[in-house]
Amino acid sequence: MTAPTPAVRDRLRALPGGELPAYLYDLTALRAHAAAVRAALPEAVELYYAAKANPEPEILRALGPYADGYEVSSGGELAHVATAVPARRLAFGGPGKTPDELAAALGQGVHRVHVESLHELRLLAALSARLAPGTPTGILLRVNLPVPERSLAGSALAMGGRPAPFGLDPAQADEAVRLLTDGSCPQLRLHGVHAHLASGLDAPRLLAVAESVLSWTAALAARHGARLTEVNLGGGMAVDYAAPDSRFDWTAYGAGLARLAAAHPGTTLRIEPGRALTAYCGWYATEVLDVKPSHGEEFAVVRGGTHHLRTPAAKGHDQPCAVVPGSAPWPHPWPRPSLRGERVTFAGQLCTPKDVLARGVAAPGLRAGDRVAFGLAGAYAWNISHHEFLMHPRPGFHFLG
Ligand SMILES: Cc1ncc(COP(=O)(O)O)c(C=O)c1O
Repeated sequence: MTAPTPAVRDRLRALPGGELPAYLYDLTALRAHAAAVRAALPEAVELYYAAKANPEPEILRALGPYADGYEVSSGGELAHVATAVPARRLAFGGPGKTPDELAAALGQGVHRVHVESLHELRLLAALSARLAPGTPTGILLRVNLPVPERSLAGSALAMGGRPAPFGLDPAQADEAVRLLTDGSCPQLRLHGVHAHLASGLDAPRLLAVAESVLSWTAALAARHGARLTEVNLGGGMAVDYAAPDSRFDWTAYGAGLARLAAAHPGTTLRIEPGRALTAYCGWYATEVLDVKPSHGEEFAVVRGGTHHLRTPAAKGHDQPCAVVPGSAPWPHPWPRPSLRGERVTFAGQLCTPKDVLARGVAAPGLRAGDRVAFGLAGAYAWNISHHEFLMHPRPGFHFLG
């Protein structure tokens, strides 16, 4: 959805230019989307929200009724999410967890720790014995599994199925299970496997990966006579920035998960999407400061830029956007900068050619003072941006609904 929702459009129109740029979140739209996702999933499939996509407390709270828990990937996220949505189940993942972070996770009593290496396993066992004796710590082994040939093709961000710092190499998984079943780590309870292998996959590809993760886990359990009753399939549901109105097929994905769950009775399936849950509820809204020609093209410079919305620079795409004509009269005696042609490149205020939000946007008649709402800005947007560069003011934040 590129076009802002009515609530977002109204707020964008009402905000004085000095209060732009601003992030505008439509929480009513977010709740409706999360409810639809939840309804498409089999009841038994657990849905965790990957807080890294957008950890704003209002977002975390809005997702509360639809999520079985939250995935956090640092001590900072752990503390933040535990405060914003207290007493919810947390899964703690991420490579390179420090002893302090693991200790904090034990202190919080997180539901699951996703253990990513043999060293981390031993460290967690030692910390757990010291800090939480008598309270078993539930873990999943994050494994960087081999995946069916070409199933990660099309992934925007493959994190597994190839050399990567994420998770255990499959060749070390047997040793990890041995340590967890031979009495070496009595404090730790192995519940199953975690595998977030890629981001940006469509439903058929994600299901193909899920099927291979489940078969691999069943074989691992059989080799060790272990009961592995949980498989966390990660997130990675595609968001198509080039086709913002097309959505990940949650219905097909839910039906596929139901088939996989039936084929693996006794195994709880869990997913932890981020981007595909929250991307659609956020807009980065701003104002055109200037419009000018340059070597045969035309540029509109907006308040703000990629230091607030790094997503297009990070992913190399054009952020989908919609123009909302400004209503204020032009206050200067000189002509209002306006687009002469049909297409414009929206650039930000930074002194770098990388500060481009969208190229070649059809915007006939665009003028300085018009407003632009960049959509799909509800995930990996503000929180992945380099806010301090050039010391421009921070955007406002509005949570609507
Ligand atoms: C371990 C893990 N789980 C879940 C996610 C969420 O992925 P996405 O936002 O693509 O759904 C990520 C993203 O990097 C991740 O690393």
